[in-house]
Formats: sequence, structure tokens, C-alpha cells
Amino acid sequence: MEKRTLTPSGIQISLLGLGCWSFGGQEGDYWGPHDDREAAEIVARALACGINYFDTAEGYNEGRSEEALGRALKGRRAAAIIGTKVSPQHTEPATLRQHCEASLRRLGTDVIDIYMVHWPITEYPVADAFGTLTDLRREGKIRAIGISNFGPLQMQEALATGAAIEINQLGYSLLHRAIEFEILPACRRHGIGVAVYMPLMQGLLTGRWRNADEIPLTRRRTRHFSSSRPGTRHGEPGAEAETFTALNGIAALVDRLGMPMADLALAWVAAQPGVTTVIAGTRTVAQLEESRRGIGQSLTPETLAELDRLTQPVKEKLGANADLWQSGPDSRIR
Ligand SMILES: NC(=O)c1ccc[n+]([C@@H]2O[C@H](COP(=O)([O-])OP(=O)(O)OC[C@H]3O[C@@H](n4cnc5c(N)ncnc54)[C@H](OP(=O)(O)O)[C@@H]3O)[C@@H](O)[C@H]2O)c1
Repeated sequence: MEKRTLTPSGIQISLLGLGCWSFGGQEGDYWGPHDDREAAEIVARALACGINYFDTAEGYNEGRSEEALGRALKGRRAAAIIGTKVSPQHTEPATLRQHCEASLRRLGTDVIDIYMVHWPITEYPVADAFGTLTDLRREGKIRAIGISNFGPLQMQEALATGAAIEINQLGYSLLHRAIEFEILPACRRHGIGVAVYMPLMQGLLTGRWRNADEIPLTRRRTRHFSSSRPGTRHGEPGAEAETFTALNGIAALVDRLGMPMADLALAWVAAQPGVTTVIAGTRTVAQLEESRRGIGQSLTPETLAELDRLTQPVKEKLGANADLWQSGPDSRIR
């Protein structure tokens, strides 16, 4: 598995990362129940294949994702790169320190490899938060500072504090290309790596649903879907026609190439300049194997161009707002 290097820490991170949001899940959680045995098998198999990046957050299943990942990594910690995230409402310095300690405890480790701010900070001074993160790095509690869902202005604000920001974690896929307008070029300009989340649009890019009504409620709250659908909070008309036209076009291409849609979606995102790692949510060992196969495919320039063309109308309709769920003055990404 190809590895890419973060600077200045020198951390080497695999091109395919493991999304651990479902870990520790119970009935009623976003991804439902996920038992520890399955998580341990996924983690062991990932490491055996050279996949070293494991992505979690204090907010996933109220800390149970971190706990389950910690248990699954018992005896294997040295081979892994753990990325976890602090919620922005916990970034007041004293609170941030407490939350870092709590994540360390839940993960059963004495250092977090990549510690990210999950969403842009709105309630506290940005300089204090990044100053504290820099102190935590100096003290050896964390190895690298990261951000997530930060747009160009927010990145500039964070960089102006002097903190060494190594990675920005962002939503990116064939159906969500907003970061191409400004954020991806800004990350490249600043030498900040990009960790991609939701590369499969939570299953939409596996071709398993033919129309919006078939999609589970929690997975059709993004700006692709009309605001008349329950659970959405963006107030926009959505891009349902463009999305399903693009999916039909991709399905025809998939038939021609004889390759599963998920493979194509993962290979496309991995091929985009500036992408450091692609984090696929993984609930089973079988999905891990499929994602591993997908990321390893190399697409011809013609296929890449065809995929760009097929998804361009969705990109244009949804525009440069990288917030998948909120829009206008409520967009959290600037
Ligand atoms: N920073 C942030 O704000 C943020 C936001 C969202 C996610 N994330 C991170 O990014 C990770 C990935 O995002 P995500 O899990 O939301 O979305 P995703 O990776 O696009 O989709 C994951 C889902 O797709 C299906 N799947 C996975 N591999 C597959 C394969 N090879 N073939 C067919 N279906 C497959 C599974 O759905 P089924 O279980 O239904 O089979 C899986 O749960 C998360 O685990 C989390 O670590 C970060």
C-alpha cells in the first residue's frame, strides 16, 4: 500500500485510510450496531495489508468509536497512525487539554498521531486553540496538528497563529467536488495534506440505490437532496436530477470497464492531485478488501476525463460551498 508523507512530522500515512465512525456503534447510532470482534478483524487485516491510518473522533458514538479502536489496536499500536478529532466547542484551552487526555484514555495510548479540530472554531479565539495544540505537540501528547472542514479563510486564520498544520480533512467524491474550486488549491499552496472523507458518498457511489426514495433517511440529508425531504437543513432545491443522471452515466461506464462502481469512485479520488489519503468507512472485512482493490486501480486519462465530464453538472449545481449539509449564511466552511 502506497504511503504519503506529512510535513513537518514526517508521518507516513497509507493512501487508503480506515474510517472508524461505525466502531463501537450501538442501536440508534448513525451506523447502527458494530461489534468489537468485527472491528478487531478489520483492524488486523488492514495492518496486514499495509493500511496504517485509522480515523476516528471524540464525537463518534459518544467516544465509543475511540474506545473500540483502542481495543482493536491492543498489541498492534506501534504499526498504526491514529487520527482523532476534538469538537470545536471543546477548544477553549483548559477544556481542549481535558478532551485530549480523555481521547488518549479512550484510545488506550500515550500519544495521538494526528489531532484535528473537527469543524471550524466559532466560539473561542482561534489563536488560543492552536497555541494549545502546539503546546500539546511540544509535550509529546500529539505528533501532528490537523484541521477538518476548514475553508480558505479559516485555514489562513489558523495558519496565521503560527501552528504547523499538516492536514485538512474534507468531504470529496465524484458527487461532491466543491473543494476543487478553492480549498484543494489552497491546501496545495500551503503544503497541507488532504484527507478525503465520504469518498463513496456513504454508499451512493456504489450504485446500490436507483432513486432518492430508496436511500436510508440519514444518508439523504446532504445538499444533493431537496430541502423538502425530512432531515435536511440546507433550504436548497438540491440536485437530485443531476445526481442520478451522473450516477446513470457512471453505471454505464462501469459496465463498459467491467469494474465495480465503488472501485471507480475510490480510484478517481485517489488520482486527484493534492489528495494524501482516502478514508473509506469500513464496516466489514469484505468492504475493506473491496476498497483496497479499488484504491489500487489506475484509471486511464480518458476514464478520468469521462468521470469529470459526467459529474460536472452536479459540481456546477452545488457550487463552491464545501459544507455538505448547510448553505448560505449557515455554511460552516469559509
Ligand atoms: N471530518 C468529518 O467531518 C467527517 C465526516 C464524515 C466522515 N468522516 C470520516 O470519514 C470516514 C468515511 O466516511 P463515511 O463512512 O461517512 O462515508 P463513505 O466512506 O463514503 O461510506 C461508507 C459506507 O459505504 C459503504 N461501503 C464502504 N466500502 C464499500 C465498498 N467497498 N463497497 C460497497 N460499499 C461500501 C458502507 O455502507 P454500508 O455499511 O451500508 O454497507 C460504508 O459504511 C468516516 O468513517 C469518518 O472516519 C469525517
